[in-house]
Amino acid sequence: MTTKPPLRWPGGKTRLLTQLLPLIRPHTIFVEALIAQPGLTGLQQAARYLLRNRLSFGGTGNSFAVCRSHAQPSRAAVLDKLRALNARLDKVAVENISYERLFKNYDSPGTFWFCDPPYTVGEVDTYAAWDQERMEGFAQAVAGLQGDWLVTVNDTPENRALFRGHDIRPVVTNSGAVNRRTRPDATFGELIIRRRWKRASAAQALPLAA
Ligand SMILES: C[S@@+](CC[C@H](N)C(=O)[O-])C[C@H]1O[C@@H](n2cnc3c(N)ncnc32)[C@H](O)[C@@H]1O
Repeated sequence: MTTKPPLRWPGGKTRLLTQLLPLIRPHTIFVEALIAQPGLTGLQQAARYLLRNRLSFGGTGNSFAVCRSHAQPSRAAVLDKLRALNARLDKVAVENISYERLFKNYDSPGTFWFCDPPYTVGEVDTYAAWDQERMEGFAQAVAGLQGDWLVTVNDTPENRALFRGHDIRPVVTNSGAVNRRTRPDATFGELIIRRRWKRASAAQALPLAA
């Protein structure tokens, strides 16, 4: 069963879940680096943040999402999601550190990494895009991991070249970060990249189906 996130987030991976989940190989620990939900202190601050997130276009918190076609989002449903998240996060550590430190702290042959770095194009209000140099540094760092990994990046010729040699599946999604009322046809190309091992073991050699 999957737990739905209580916050909306530009670049969230809910839309790709059915494609991503079957690609996660057996592991001892699962680590998601470059996670995006913000750190909050204080209950009042957290409650205000949640409300602004749920009531704005795309969860950016800087607009009020006027809607003429249906009612406001359900607050009761958000509470249900928070309760489910609380149960899901039992035995899970959430750390506010860079992916570089996370790689050092948690990498092992039994670790499975999921990494969703910032795109190298476009703009979102909540975090900065990466330039190609940062993406290159990241590609080198994941290539050096002992553990297995799955990475999602925006689809550009540069990113395809950077991860060549691994299994790359291009996908097109409706970007949640755009306002579907004004740009209903807006789509976004992403790459799901799965580590290809040089000397593949039986478990590691599963083909990436198209
Ligand atoms: C595309 S978002 C990830 C969204 C995530 N899949 C989710 O649904 O929550 C990329 C995130 O990486 C974070 N980030 C950027 N540079 C980082 C670094 N060096 N180490 C860790 N996180 C970083 C950004 O702040 C942003 O929140």
